Amino acid sequence: MMKVYAGSDHGGFNLKNTLIRKLQQMGHEVEDLGTHSKDSCDYPDYAHAVARKVVADKGSFGLLICGSGIGVSIAANRHPGIRAALCRSGLEAKLSRQHNDANVLALGERITGEALAIDILEKFMAAGFEGSRHEIRVRKIEEI
Ligand code: RB5
Repeated sequence: MMKVYAGSDHGGFNLKNTLIRKLQQMGHEVEDLGTHSKDSCDYPDYAHAVARKVVADKGSFGLLICGSGIGVSIAANRHPGIRAALCRSGLEAKLSRQHNDANVLALGERITGEALAIDILEKFMAAGFEGSRHEIRVRKIEEI
């Protein structure tokens, strides 16, 4: 069971709700940091909120969704300690965990359909970091 902090703007609102239900069915504990309606809002507010929680809560994950997935991933990746992966396939989701120790999954509701998004989420949550040579590389990400 994992703790997952979820956030989206209006463009990711529907998919966020779907994926939160899916995560709960999988037995994970989810905190929904908003947005809580389809009213227009600014994706950085939610990306920063999720990123702060994931950095503060070691071992937790983030789920961020906007229209394209691009805005939330750019904003989240400004936070030291955050490795947000914008995934369009299950293979990318798996590799982002195995090789990059991604701790935030970013998705675009206007790009990725619901069934594929669920598959991506399942692959992301199931895969684990492989460590060893990847550990050295992931550590170097923080050395800027
Ligand atoms: C909102 O219209 C849209 O720009 C936003 O959801 C996201 O796609 C930005 O990257």
